[in-house]
Amino acid sequence: MPSDTKVTVYYGPLSWFDEQVEDLPCDSLMEIVYARDEVNRQLKVIVPGQQENEPEERERSGHVVAESGDYASLNEHAITNFAGFIRSIDPECLHLHNPPAHVHAQMERTAKAIDVKRYEYPMVTRDTLIRFRNGFGSHLVGQAAVKETLLAALYPLTTRRRTKPVVLMFYGPSGVGKTETAQFVNDLLGGTLLRKQFSMFHSDKFASYLFGGMHGEPSFAHDLLDRESGVILIDEFDKANSVFHSAFYQLFDSGVFEDKNYSVKIGPSLIICTSNYGSQNEIREALGDALYSRFDSLVAFEPLSRDEILQVVERVVKARFAELSYEEQKYLDVDFLMARMGLFAENSTNVRKLGKIVEELISLILVRALLREEPELE
Ligand SMILES: Nc1ncnc2c1ncn2[C@@H]1O[C@H](COP(=O)(O)OP(=O)(O)OP(=O)(O)O)[C@@H](O)[C@H]1O
Ligand SMILES: [Mg+2]
Repeated sequence: MPSDTKVTVYYGPLSWFDEQVEDLPCDSLMEIVYARDEVNRQLKVIVPGQQENEPEERERSGHVVAESGDYASLNEHAITNFAGFIRSIDPECLHLHNPPAHVHAQMERTAKAIDVKRYEYPMVTRDTLIRFRNGFGSHLVGQAAVKETLLAALYPLTTRRRTKPVVLMFYGPSGVGKTETAQFVNDLLGGTLLRKQFSMFHSDKFASYLFGGMHGEPSFAHDLLDRESGVILIDEFDKANSVFHSAFYQLFDSGVFEDKNYSVKIGPSLIICTSNYGSQNEIREALGDALYSRFDSLVAFEPLSRDEILQVVERVVKARFAELSYEEQKYLDVDFLMARMGLFAENSTNVRKLGKIVEELISLILVRALLREEPELE
């Protein structure tokens, strides 16, 4: 880029990027591209002997921005030759948000001046640990051992020495509070949790999600770049095929994740993987030593006792009740609901299923009350 365009590259969530550039009089790169395409589509008629109007001198753009999602709409050619593409626009300042690694590298090579800004993700501090210890009981029923193990596992993140992530594996039966705990830790730090459910991907899509595909396709690296949260939750880690395990070595070791298009440095963040493995031995066998040894801590979640299940159900009933309008609440009796749910809990230990039953029961009572008030027409 022989011109003097000043380039700034930003890595972080979109909301943060928008704040960085909101006071600048910015033009969007995409709008410039669309406007150009429009001009190129215009048909020019040349009448012999008639003087052609001089093309209007275009004013040089001041600040041009490209957001994280914009690169997907550019064609492959504009990405491969991004420097040339920018040269043809020649803005005074260019602001690039979460660009593909290739775009960043080209800018490094060609721009006269380049500045890189990174969002500082919320860190685990002593205060986080205190709020974790004090708030655990009001968010989770039982799992006392989890509380202690987690406090110890989170401690390294509070020290400045730590530069790589802390990687945890939550394991245990379904519906005992694994995802809920991850959510709780994230709420302490703030930002919407980045949660990826690995069972949602079919193998072929999953390969391009992890290793990178066409530059517009969804990818884990790109999701990591766009994330808002300090916690990264990889749900249902046991559902990922073992051919994908090696993709995580570098991320877990050094906090760097690279695919075909993007490169991310996550630094001292918290990565939580969840699974339904039954024991540490089972994890070791299923994941192999290489991956197994990369977890900083394996956190066992115990099945809930009958009493604990009832406590969870009570919380669900009360939470659901509180969401209803005053009119609706008049038709419901929390004690009656609890008594009925107690019967269901005799036969099921699946808290998630019990939660659904609460919903159904409440809806059933409410719909009956509603129809009773509105007599059927003969
Ligand atoms: N120990 C618990 N304390 C409070 N709520 C709980 C507990 N266990 C489960 N729940 C409630 O039950 C529901 C399911 O829990 P959660 O999503 O954490 O299960 P999970 O352990 O992640 O299960 P899975 O392995 O199936 O993903 C949530 O709504 C959660 O609030
Ligand atoms: Mg879960």
